[in-house]
Amino acid sequence: MIQPHGGKLIDRVIEESQLPKNAPVLTLNEREKNDLEMISCGAMSPLEGFMTAIDYNSVVDKMRLANGIVWSLPVVFSLKENDPVVASGDVVLLQYGDKIRGTMEVGDVFSADLMHEAKETLLTDDDAHPGVQYLKTLSGKYIGGKISALDLRDSEPFREHRLIPEETRALFQEKGWKTIVAFQTRNPIHRAHEYLQKVSLEMIDGLLIHPLVGATKADDIPADVRMKCYETILEKYYPSDRTALSVFPAAMRYAGPREAVFHALLRKNYGCTHFIVGRDHAGVGDYYGTYDAQIIFDNFTADEIGITPLKFEHAFYCNACNGMASDRTCPHTASDRVFLSGKKVRAMLIEGIMPPPEFTRPEIAQLLMDAAKK
Ligand code: ADX
Repeated sequence: MIQPHGGKLIDRVIEESQLPKNAPVLTLNEREKNDLEMISCGAMSPLEGFMTAIDYNSVVDKMRLANGIVWSLPVVFSLKENDPVVASGDVVLLQYGDKIRGTMEVGDVFSADLMHEAKETLLTDDDAHPGVQYLKTLSGKYIGGKISALDLRDSEPFREHRLIPEETRALFQEKGWKTIVAFQTRNPIHRAHEYLQKVSLEMIDGLLIHPLVGATKADDIPADVRMKCYETILEKYYPSDRTALSVFPAAMRYAGPREAVFHALLRKNYGCTHFIVGRDHAGVGDYYGTYDAQIIFDNFTADEIGITPLKFEHAFYCNACNGMASDRTCPHTASDRVFLSGKKVRAMLIEGIMPPPEFTRPEIAQLLMDAAKK
C-alpha cells in the first residue's frame, strides 16, 4: 500500500466527551468546516491542524511546508468579525452553524497579505476569480494550530460514500487492487471524463471516482445531482469489480495548477497510486494554460509527490473517428469534433435542449435536464 504523504496517516478524531468545557467558541466558514473534516480524518496528512505562520508563508512562497515536504495550497482558519480574541496557547471550540465540530490548540494568530496569497496561489488577484472573491471576504488574520474534530459523517450527505482514507485503503486491499487511479471532479460526468477513466483502467487495477462535494461556486452543478449521475452511469457502463465511488469532502479552490498538486497528494492519502490530470484541471475562466496543471508536477521529483499523475490531453468525440479521441490519436479537424463548453451545456439545459450522446450519455443528459427544470 502506498505511503501517506509525510509517511503517517493522521488521525485527529475525538469523541464529544473529549471536547474542552467552557472554551471560547470560534466560527468556521464552509471551507474551514470542510478542511476540519479533511484534516481530522487524515485526508490532509501530514497536516494536524490549520497552518501556523511558518508553514503558511512557506507554502505560499515555496509550495512546501516549513519542513520541506511538498504542499501547494494554504489550509488556514480565519479570524471572524464577532469572534472572541484569542492568543497562542488558548484552547478553543470550533463551531459551524449551531454545532460544535471540533477544537483547536491555538499555535499562533498572524496577519496575512491576502492579495499576495492570491497572486502566488491562484496566480491572479482579479476580482472575477472565485478564489479571489473568497479571500476578499476574509479578515486577513489567520489562527493556526492543531485541531481535533468529531466524526459527524452520520449527519452529512452521501454518508454511504463518505469513506475516510483508512476505509478506502481497506477497500482497495479487500478488492485486491495493487494500483488505483483516482479521478477528481466537480462536474457531472461526460464522455471525456469516462474516456480518461477507462483509458486509465486499461492499465490500472482499480478506479476511484472521487467527486468533490465540499464548497463550490454557486453556478457549479450541485453535488447531489452529480452523485446521482455517477450512481447511474456506474451501474450501466462500468465494471463493478474495478470501480469504486466515494466522495472528497474538500472545498474547491479553483487554483488550477497548485490545486492539481493538492488534489493528487490528498488522493495518495486515500491510498491511490495514480491520479488523472486532464485539461485545465481545477481551472476556471481563462486564468490558467490548458496544461499548466500538468507542467507544475515537473517542479518536484517523483518521490516527493509519491502518487503518479496520469496526464491526458484534451479529449473529445470525433465524428470522423466515430469515437472518443484526442490530438494524440485523431488526425481530423475541429469541424469533425464535438466540443461543448460547460457554459454552452448549461444554456442548453435551461432551454430544455438535450445535450447530444457524443457529449454525454443519454441517461446523464436526462438527469441534468430534470435537475435544470427544478
Ligand atoms: S475539475 O475542476 O475537477 O478539474 P472537471 O470535473 O471538469 O473539473 O474535471 C475533472 C478532470 O477531468 C480534470 O482532471 C480535468 O482536467 C479533466 N477533464 C475534463 N474535461 C476534459 C476533457 N475534455 N479532456 C481532457 N480532460 C478533461
